[in-house]
Amino acid sequence: MADRKIIAVTGATGAQGGGLVRAILADPDGGFAVRAITRDVDSDKAKALARAGAEVVAGNVDDEASLAKALAGAHGAYFVTFFWGHLSPEKEAAEARNMARAAKTAGITHAIWSTLEDTRRWVPLSDNRMPTLMGKYKVPHFDAKGESNHFFTDDGVPTTFLLTSFYWDNLIHFGMGPKKGPDGKLAITLPMGEKRLSGIAAEDIGRCAYGIFKGGAEFVGKTVGIAGEHVTGSEMAAALGRALGQEVRYNAVTPAQYRGFGFPGADDLGNMFQFYADFEDYFTGARPLSVARKLNPALQTFAQWAAANKDRIPFS
Ligand SMILES: NC(=O)c1ccc[n+]([C@@H]2O[C@H](COP(=O)([O-])OP(=O)(O)OC[C@H]3O[C@@H](n4cnc5c(N)ncnc54)[C@H](OP(=O)(O)O)[C@@H]3O)[C@@H](O)[C@H]2O)c1
Repeated sequence: MADRKIIAVTGATGAQGGGLVRAILADPDGGFAVRAITRDVDSDKAKALARAGAEVVAGNVDDEASLAKALAGAHGAYFVTFFWGHLSPEKEAAEARNMARAAKTAGITHAIWSTLEDTRRWVPLSDNRMPTLMGKYKVPHFDAKGESNHFFTDDGVPTTFLLTSFYWDNLIHFGMGPKKGPDGKLAITLPMGEKRLSGIAAEDIGRCAYGIFKGGAEFVGKTVGIAGEHVTGSEMAAALGRALGQEVRYNAVTPAQYRGFGFPGADDLGNMFQFYADFEDYFTGARPLSVARKLNPALQTFAQWAAANKDRIPFS
């Protein structure tokens, strides 16, 4: 343990961080040990990580001092923020600022910041193709992350900027699974036309991050985009149909219709999908599949993910 480099992981009981924790634990001879940061070391998930071999420590990303304490002595740190827990871009930026400052205080050698594009570089607020949200954002949960990149560079934290992509797990956890339409047929609904959506199994994000920590200095200061596959709604529906053993259709709606669905964050997601679609070549090009596969040879395609998760995908 003493000669292994410690990677401290925020969101360790969640999707991205959890994938990284499991990737490190699955490679005991890889030279790394893992420290899971959680707000509650006594939760069932935290205890399960401890049983699996992780060091589990308390830390809250809203509290810079607690985070710096949780990072002390670590070589690397994985930083992910929690937009959907509060739906506030300002709070997300504050979380990122705390992470950067705490990483500097702790003298982290290699940080990975799980970020996304500030879409306003492509769609300025004056561009009316999509509404401006919350007064100054186009895609709040993207923009706040991209805007926060500077906290890490400002503080001189040796950082890899990891551009993630759409989790296919949203079909399980985010209400995006197939639903029966008026015709009684199952369909998935996306506002993407026939444009390709860059997606990934959430578990593979952590595995790619582990590849970046193993690569070390070669990735410091770099932006790395990852996806498991770039797939159209039609292709996703067909693969889901094969996995579930029944027909699944693709219900292509417009971004405006999607924004109007009314659930919390529907407007943010409608703008996000429109950004994916309108800037398809940029978005997919920034996430070459070969890069993710090199970092993580077990990278799954959508069809592989769907087949492996068919019993977890709710449909009704
Ligand atoms: N869904 C997608 O398609 C997608 C795609 C790309 C990026 N993202 C981004 O991914 C991020 C979320 O990551 P995730 O999906 O890995 O999260 P997640 O699965 O929801 O996990 C969140 C974990 O974060 C921890 N957490 C929450 N608030 C915290 C705080 N104040 N201090 C410390 N820990 C805290 C919680 O751990 P404890 O309860 O143990 O403290 C929880 O287990 C979001 O910002 C989202 O925008 C999502």
